[in-house]
This record gives sequence, structure tokens and C-alpha cells, in this order.
Amino acid sequence: MADKPKVTATRVIPDAGLDLLRDAAELRLWEEELPPDPDQLDVLLDGADGALTLLTDRIDGAVLDRHPGLKVVSNFAVGFDNVDVDAATERGVAVCNTPNVLNDATAEMAFTLMTAAARRVVEAADYVRDDRWKTWGPTLLLGQDLTNATLGIVGFGRIGRKLARMVSGFDMEVLVHDVYQDPSAEAEFGVKYVSLDELLVRSDYVSLHVLLNEDTRHMISTDQFARMKSTAVLINAARGPVVDTDALVHALETGEIFAAGLDVTDPEPLPADHPLVSLPNCTVVPHIASATVTSRDNMASLAARNLLSVLNGQEPEAIVNPQVLRGSR
Ligand code: DGY
Repeated sequence: MADKPKVTATRVIPDAGLDLLRDAAELRLWEEELPPDPDQLDVLLDGADGALTLLTDRIDGAVLDRHPGLKVVSNFAVGFDNVDVDAATERGVAVCNTPNVLNDATAEMAFTLMTAAARRVVEAADYVRDDRWKTWGPTLLLGQDLTNATLGIVGFGRIGRKLARMVSGFDMEVLVHDVYQDPSAEAEFGVKYVSLDELLVRSDYVSLHVLLNEDTRHMISTDQFARMKSTAVLINAARGPVVDTDALVHALETGEIFAAGLDVTDPEPLPADHPLVSLPNCTVVPHIASATVTSRDNMASLAARNLLSVLNGQEPEAIVNPQVLRGSR
């Protein structure tokens, strides 16, 4: 019987994925709560044929050069900005991700943050907790309506489309912006493609669903906040650096926008003494949009299947650089 491939997993993921790896491979597992540092990552990857990585692991050309046996980097995430895909492609290393299985959970979190930020839910709960609730008040903790409001979705891929469907019961007008326009999507999802500027000017809610790359880094900064309504709510369940953090702090402090709901931040993790944490009009959760039992189980098993498929010479279900499989390096 042929030797089993050597596989590294850089964190404990749900058994739905780990069991597949344990059965089919010789598994080296990082069991700590915090990610391995670069030196520890090198030790873990030593001699590995495949790596199941997290968004907290930076995999660049130098790492790949130190581990020339790696054939696949299978990311336990739909985003893959932690991996230098060009460097991997140049070296013939497959990069896989976990699309689709987290669409519902992520869109649900974007919607949760929209309602929480608009209706000041965290601030209101703190108000009770701090024993400040003395009477019913006609103007106490007034928020913004969702019904009949305009939602702007930036990045109209799988998750953005889920969100558009989700709000259909709220009679919202949905504007979308994407570098790729799908001619059938306007009718199918009841949305309208507009420029980013128009979306920012007209939207009551702006929800970000783009990948992080050099085109989207700081896509929302001082100029963009200046275009937004003073009643607008910004939601980020994409990647922290899509928003310029300093500009966001300024916009929230000066009332340039009403509120923000953030699943992701820059930096990440966000220290408790960061201004975004103490601002009452900013709701921050620790990058948990895909954190439902079902979604994480499905991510784990898809990431493991992707990895094992590449090692078995089969086409994985989700690959970011398919040209590697066709040998066009
Ligand atoms: C992703 O998948 O990219 C999320 O940020 C984590 O689920």
C-alpha cells in the first residue's frame, strides 16, 4: 500500500474536516488556540504535501520556497488574501477555498449587523446594563428604519446576492455595485447596478461584500464617507482593510455617518482600547460571520475534500488557480 500523504492543518477545525484528513493522510495538527508564528509554521509545514490553512496564516512565495513539497494550500475560508496566489501559481501549487457553504451564515450576519447598528441594539442593552433605564422616553435611543430604505451592496457575488434576497421582505430598494455586471441579475434579484459614487450617495445602508485585493483596499475612505448620508449605516462583513479605519473613526465621531456594524476590522484582532470599540455608534463582532455550526462543518469538510482531491490528482470542488491543474505554469 502506498504511503499516506503528509498533511498539515494549522488549527483545529471541526471534525467534519479533520476526520477526512485523519483517514486519508498522515496529519500534523497545530492544536493551540492562537495561530502558529512564522517559525512554528515552518516546522509544521516541513515535509508536508498539503496544507490546510486559515486566514491567519500568511502563505507567500518565501514560505512556498521553503516547502517545495507542498502541492496544495487549502484555505478554510472563502477569502484567500492571506495566500499569495500568483506566487503559488508560479510554483504550481494549487490554492483552494470554501465558497458557497458560508453564504447564508455570512449574509445573515450582515443583516444582523444592519439591524443591530440601525436600531442601536448593543448601545441599548448597555443602557439597561448600566442602570440608566429610568423611564419610557419619546426620543430615547432613536434609530433608523429598514423598511422602505435603500440598501447598497458593494460586491454582488454569492453573499451579496443572498443579502439582496434576504431583505426582499423589507420593501427596500437595492442598489448594487460590482466590477463585473451580470446582465440577468437586475431582473433576477430585483436590484439595479450603479456606480460606487451613486450607491454611496443614495444608500441608507452600505454593505461590503468584495474580496480584498489591491483594487479594493481602502475602497471606503475619506472621500467615500463624504458622499454618504449622515443617516447611513456601513456594514463590513468582507475584509477589514476594505475600509480605511482612520477615516471610519472620523466619520463615526463627527456624525458623517450614523453607525457602523463590523464583522471584520483593520487591524484584526481589534484591541479593546481601539476607538472603534468605545464608539457607541459602532458595533464590532470578532470576525464570526461564518461561525454557525453548519457553516463551519461544511467549510471544514470542503477544505479537507479540496486538499485531498488535489493530492489524489483529482479536480477539487473549489480552486482559485485552476490553471495549475492544467499544467500551464
Ligand atoms: C472567509 O471565509 O473568508 C471568512 O472571512 C471566514 O469565514
